[in-house]
Order: sequence, then structure tokens, then C-alpha cells
Amino acid sequence: MEMLQICITFITLFMQVSGGGDWCYSSQKPSCGPDHWKDINHNCGGDHQSPINIEKAKAKKDNHLGNITFIGYDHASSAEWKFMNDGHSVLMSLAGNISISGAGLPNTYQAVQFHFHWGSPTNNGSEHTLDGKQFPIELHIVHMNAKYSSITEAKKDPQGLAVLGILITVGEADNPSYSPLVSAMKNVSLEGDYVLLTPTFPLQSLLPAQDKLSSYYRYQGSLTTPDCSEAVIWTVFEHPVTISKTQHQILTNTSHFSANGETPVKIKDNFRPPQPLKGRQILASKDATVNFSSILCASILNLCMISLTAKIFLN
Ligand SMILES: *[C@@H]1O[C@H](CO)[C@@H](O)[C@H](O)[C@H]1NC(C)=O
Ligand SMILES: *[C@@H]1O[C@H](CO)[C@@H](O)[C@H](O)[C@H]1NC(C)=O
Ligand SMILES: *[C@@H]1O[C@H](CO)[C@@H](O)[C@H](O)[C@H]1NC(C)=O
Ligand SMILES: *[C@@H]1O[C@H](CO)[C@@H](O)[C@H](O)[C@H]1NC(C)=O
Ligand SMILES: *[C@@H]1O[C@H](CO)[C@@H](O)[C@H](O)[C@H]1NC(C)=O
Ligand SMILES: *[C@@H]1O[C@H](CO)[C@@H](O)[C@H](O)[C@H]1NC(C)=O
Ligand SMILES: [Zn+2]
Repeated sequence: MEMLQICITFITLFMQVSGGGDWCYSSQKPSCGPDHWKDINHNCGGDHQSPINIEKAKAKKDNHLGNITFIGYDHASSAEWKFMNDGHSVLMSLAGNISISGAGLPNTYQAVQFHFHWGSPTNNGSEHTLDGKQFPIELHIVHMNAKYSSITEAKKDPQGLAVLGILITVGEADNPSYSPLVSAMKNVSLEGDYVLLTPTFPLQSLLPAQDKLSSYYRYQGSLTTPDCSEAVIWTVFEHPVTISKTQHQILTNTSHFSANGETPVKIKDNFRPPQPLKGRQILASKDATVNFSSILCASILNLCMISLTAKIFLN
């Protein structure tokens, strides 16, 4: 009897140490990559999963999706932020009174953290794709419905979280707004590393230019990492932010995870591939582009209807 007890204790300990139920990206270990997440948590095999491919032709224009109200995005926060390497990504946990509202969101949502998904210096790594096109990096700014005080509570509500997805592309010039983050990458090179930063930049400076913020796509989805909770109102901006090749190299080629609990290996391709839409409708904001051919089709259909109605009327 006692032997059995010891045995069970040993097995439990072993499972904790070896990370039973742990998830990863295929680049870290194929056996715990995105294809296996649904075995770890059944949410990951659900019908409202993220990311998705946004097909502009199938997005439905919604004129109620106007400008987002950004609060506390316009000045550097006086509260300290914590920048860390969690072994899957680098993330900044936010403090200060920063929130978004409006734009079809049912409440005010407080900013909690932001993090990145990337490929490598030579691979694209965004999670959302636009008409099948993947971008080099994607930034996620995670917000929590103001009626909750913990992510655990918020994750139980389909409207519990609101995440802004910002696609990042590579151009010639350095983007000065991203310089403080690029410089801080060396401080979070190893899994578990963190630094406390007094932010010198407003959160807004990481977003697309002001006049581009009214163009976005909206849909109902999930967290893109386990437990894949279907609790996210997604806003993916149509227009990307541009950083330089050097900045891209540093962001995608500095941080490591601890393979086998020890050996540091570069974090790369930390993105989940697009998930099936399963009948969900993607909405396009008032100013977002819906595909020209779909507009053309709709107008031709309209013309037909008008002439048909006219014909019936005249007869
Ligand atoms: C329009 O949509 C079609 C089909 O999704 C796609 O092949 C084409 O590239 C799109 N055109 C534009 C201008 O986005
Ligand atoms: C946060 O900002 C909102 C809107 O500006 C304000 O109503 C609220 O009192 C602020 N909360 C704190 C804790 O400062
Ligand atoms: C990566 O993304 C860039 C910018 O969006 C694009 O020009 C390039 O073709 C993509 N590369 C791959 C391998 O998909
Ligand atoms: C980051 O690391 C550098 C040394 O590589 C150090 O000088 C700097 O103070 C660190 N930054 C923070 C915020 O700790
Ligand atoms: C929304 O934002 C766009 C782009 O910045 C701007 O042109 C427009 O005037 C804004 N609309 C409203 C109602 O504030
Ligand atoms: C990535 O970093 C390694 C050092 O860790 C370096 O040898 C390699 O040249 C870098 N690659 C690029 C494309 O910057
Ligand atoms: Zn993310």
C-alpha cells in the first residue's frame, strides 16, 4: 500500500518536472506544437479559434465600426512596465490607466500586456494573414473588459478580452518608436529574464499612423496560445507598421528558450497558423478596404435588382 503511495507521488512529481501538459511551437519541439494543442486543452479544437486568414473579399462592411477611443495611449506612462522572456515570446506587462473603448466594443477594456509573434531574420511570422499574405512580425496588445479584475474571470466571457493585432513589415529606415524595445531585447535574451522599464514612449507610437487607425477588421476569436480561450474580440489593423531590417533582425534573433530545461535555443516561428473560420463573419470597419471585386459584384447585383424592380413596376 505504502509502495503504491510512493509510486503515485513519484509519477505526479515526474509529470510536473517534465511539464506534462506543456505546449510549444513546432520549432521548439514538433511533438507539442500547434497540431497537438487540442490534446492539451480541448478549447484549441473549438469553432472560434484564432488566428485566421482575413479575406478582404468576404469581409462585411459595418459602418458602426468607427474610430477606436484610445485612453492613456498618447503619453509615456509614469508606472513601471515589466519586459520579460517567458520562453514562448517576449512580453511587456503594462501598468497605468491605459484603455480602449468605442468602435463596437461593448465596454471599456484595460490594457494588460503586449507581446510579439515572429518568424526569423529570413521567415515571416505574423499570425493573422491578409488575403493569404503573412507579414514578418505581429504585435498583440491584450486588453481586459473593465468589469473583470482577472484574466481568469475574463477568459470565461466571449467578450472578456479585446486584442489589437498590429502587422509589422520591414523597410529601409529605423522606426524610432521601436528603438527602446529593440534595445531592451538584449536584457531578455534568456528564458525567465526580465527588466523593469520606465516607459519613454507612448503606447500609441507602436501603432500604425493616426490616419490609418480607422481601417481595421473585426471578428470573434480566441487566444492564439493554449488554453485557446474563445474570449477575444479581435481588431486587426489593415495597415502595417514598418521597422528597419536591422530592427527586425534584433527582434527575431535575440531571445532564447531553454530546451530540455537547459540549453538556450533561439525562439523562432512562434506563431500559430491560421485556423478555420467555421462560418464566422469578418467585419470591416467603416474605412477598411473590402475587396474591389466584391464591391463590383454587389453593385452589379444592386443594378440588376433596381432594373428588375423598375421592370415589374412599369409592367
Ligand atoms: C480580392 O479577393 C480575391 C479572392 O479572395 C483575391 O485573390 C484578390 O487578390 C483580392 N484583390 C485585392 C485587390 O485585394
Ligand atoms: C482612468 O481613466 C478614466 C478615463 O480617463 C477615468 O475615468 C478613471 O477614473 C481613471 N482611473 C484611474 C484609476 O486613474
Ligand atoms: C514576407 O512578407 C513580406 C512583406 O509582407 C513579403 O514581401 C514577402 O514576400 C514575404 N515572404 C515570404 C517568404 O512569404
Ligand atoms: C540592459 O542591459 C544593459 C547591459 O547589456 C544594461 O546596461 C542596462 O542597464 C539594462 N537595462 C535595464 C533596463 O536593466
Ligand atoms: C476617424 O479617424 C479618421 C482617421 O484618422 C479621421 O479622418 C476621421 O475624421 C475620424 N472620424 C471621426 C468621426 O472622428
Ligand atoms: C543571429 O544571431 C547569431 C548569433 O546568435 C548570429 O551568428 C547570426 O548571424 C544572426 N543572424 C542574423 C541574420 O542576424
Ligand atoms: Zn499573441
